[in-house]
Amino acid sequence: MLNELFNQKFKDYFGDYPTLLVRAPGRINLIGEHTDYNNGFVLPAAIDKAIYIAISSRNDRKCIIYAYDLDDSCEFSLDNIQKSEKGWANFLIGVLAEILEKGKQINNGFNVVFGGDVPLGAGLSSSAAVESGIGFALNQLYNLELSKLELALIAQQAEHKYAGVNCGIMDMFASIHGKTNSVIKLDCQNLSFEYFPFNFPNYTLILCNTGVKHNLGDSEYNQRRAECEKGIRILRFAFPQVDSLRDVTIPMLRSQADKLPSIVFQRCKYVVEEIERVDVACRALGNNDLKTFGQKMYETHEGLSQDYEVSCPELDFLVEQSRNFEAVVGARMMGGGFGGCTLNLVEADAADYFIKNISLAYHKTFNINLQSYIVNISNGVQEIEKEVVLN
Ligand code: GLA
Repeated sequence: MLNELFNQKFKDYFGDYPTLLVRAPGRINLIGEHTDYNNGFVLPAAIDKAIYIAISSRNDRKCIIYAYDLDDSCEFSLDNIQKSEKGWANFLIGVLAEILEKGKQINNGFNVVFGGDVPLGAGLSSSAAVESGIGFALNQLYNLELSKLELALIAQQAEHKYAGVNCGIMDMFASIHGKTNSVIKLDCQNLSFEYFPFNFPNYTLILCNTGVKHNLGDSEYNQRRAECEKGIRILRFAFPQVDSLRDVTIPMLRSQADKLPSIVFQRCKYVVEEIERVDVACRALGNNDLKTFGQKMYETHEGLSQDYEVSCPELDFLVEQSRNFEAVVGARMMGGGFGGCTLNLVEADAADYFIKNISLAYHKTFNINLQSYIVNISNGVQEIEKEVVLN
């Protein structure tokens, strides 16, 4: 068990067991992609792949963090908190800095060992899991009394300022609020949310990891965000009440088509359609209508690939191939794009057959071994009881 591993690794590294062990999951998103920073809806869930953070406080002002999977460490003082040259460390340092910025007191330093089984660069939000996990751990350790929502917002700020990605709130929100067998319908305009049961024993969710991460990802992401904002600025001339793409309809958009650069129009069109699609998909889910839900997943992929242009040949290939399997109800690229995983909703009986055959096809075309994971929806960030760990 990974929790036992990290409990033990902490002891090996620091000489004693940690005070606290925290599990922070990665996330999937069923539908609603690139809608979070446009004040739209998303439908994420926390998964059974997680980052584990073992932590204890110290008697001095020093902080020592050991990244088990990377076999690398970082040390600094609470009196001198700044960006590290080590990219991985910034996810933790950023959260600490944001917490202090909010006026919370942390007087003693800490020791941390962390790592886990969320594949890196696969679009499963390993970074948000680290940020959510360390925020949660510091909150517990120092009794900071931060709410779940505050922790999510702190994690998001850390990602903006320390990792340089102007991400939305979805990933950290899901890692923190996840609930077994439920997806979260989050309204990113006011951050209200509801859980939808997602418990279909005859179906399974399968991630197919392209194994590629085209490195333009982060800058393209920020660019998409900027293109949406540009769209809003232009639309406001005609519709001053518009605050975000959430307030825009397709007829409104079309009425301004001649004023919007065509790329901006295309981006906005995708987002407006996707926000609507989440609503339709949620209604289908409420009616146990997975067929419609799956169709919406395919439509999302088409929009992401053609209008939003955040897909890549590997992702497009996997989604196209999935159509050859009768047992696949829906498939699409997931997350920011330019690599990472596709999410496939597949009849449970056919899961092995699907994985085997799509892997063969992928290898034949790209010469890459496809990693596939059957995912289960899990609880969000939580402390792991020490009794369980120690016996
Ligand atoms: C990344 C970001 C999220 C979200 C998705 C796309 O995962 O971190 O905030 O924008 O991309 O839906």
